[in-house]
Amino acid sequence: MRVLSGIQPTGRPHWGNWFGAVQQYIALQNEDESYYFVANLHALTTIRDGEQLYQNSLNTTMDMLALGLDPEKAVLFLQSDVPEVSQLCWILMSGTPMGLLERCVSYKDKIAKGMPVVTGLFTYPVLQAADILAYDSNIVPVGEDQKQHIEFCRDVANAFNHQYGEVFVVPEPRILDQSAKIPGTDGEKMSKSYGNFIEVFEPVKSMKKKVMRIDTDSRPMEDSKEPEGDHLFQLYSLFAEPDKVEEMAATYRRGGFGYGDVKKALAEAAENYFAEARERRTELESDPDRIRDILNEGAKKARAKASEVLRRAQDACGLKPPR
Ligand code: TYM
Repeated sequence: MRVLSGIQPTGRPHWGNWFGAVQQYIALQNEDESYYFVANLHALTTIRDGEQLYQNSLNTTMDMLALGLDPEKAVLFLQSDVPEVSQLCWILMSGTPMGLLERCVSYKDKIAKGMPVVTGLFTYPVLQAADILAYDSNIVPVGEDQKQHIEFCRDVANAFNHQYGEVFVVPEPRILDQSAKIPGTDGEKMSKSYGNFIEVFEPVKSMKKKVMRIDTDSRPMEDSKEPEGDHLFQLYSLFAEPDKVEEMAATYRRGGFGYGDVKKALAEAAENYFAEARERRTELESDPDRIRDILNEGAKKARAKASEVLRRAQDACGLKPPR
């Protein structure tokens, strides 16, 4: 099985990124081959400051390593270090019907939020399809918000295969039931662009502050409450041990508790949960050369695979590059 996924360096990873996607990367890195990358080309559609984009990319790389990604097991690289993907993107774009892209919701969401409308935002799913197809990926671990993009990729791959013969492997998404859509501090999906996120490596003090500000309903404390559907409870159950989660569920049903206590318990559980990663993160910062070495090594391995797939696509559609 070949696994592939990517994360944008538009900010630092948040709890949603970890529980929806990155924890899957770590669990799947023992598969035959796994490729994980920092999607800096996708982030170029929103970040206009070169220095910031580069620093974010290095920070996201260090975050992945601190969270347990092992460069001996998985290939870790920057998206832009594999130019074959951009070449493949053009080939795919040349055959992608406009209608297929017009149906994608993520660019519509961004437009609705008043973000500048650049062409790259519209064609974003094609680059994502190229990312996936370039490595003959079988499995793509993601959160639910990426489901439509993987579906798009499958459509593009099937259309190409139908036109030119079996060139691409058609991938499957891997989405975890319990953490497909982690809520943010306002109960909506946690997102880097909604301002409702808590970063994995947020300083503990600021993490606690954000937790204490999580929106809750204003029903009286005596009322019994159903834990299911309560976003504060949902967040707590991600971090706490199963017996503690059971206890908390019982407390909700009994009533007579304060949300403040749940928030304190959540902040404490989250602090413990990421404590080791936080230490590793600090160590990694002291050796920036090592990070660049890991990325260079990753890019070499990723290019070897992507150039093989690109050549297959080029041969099939009549470009036939020199040998
Ligand atoms: P990005 O950077 O927005 O998010 C990275 C991963 O985190 C998941 N995620 C969530 N999961 C559960 N709950 C949430 N609240 C939550 N928020 C984010 C996302 O689903 C994603 O898996 N387009 C992609 C990056 C990308 C990519 C790819 C992914 C580029 N090329 C190829 C897979 C394959 C993105 O913007 O992810």
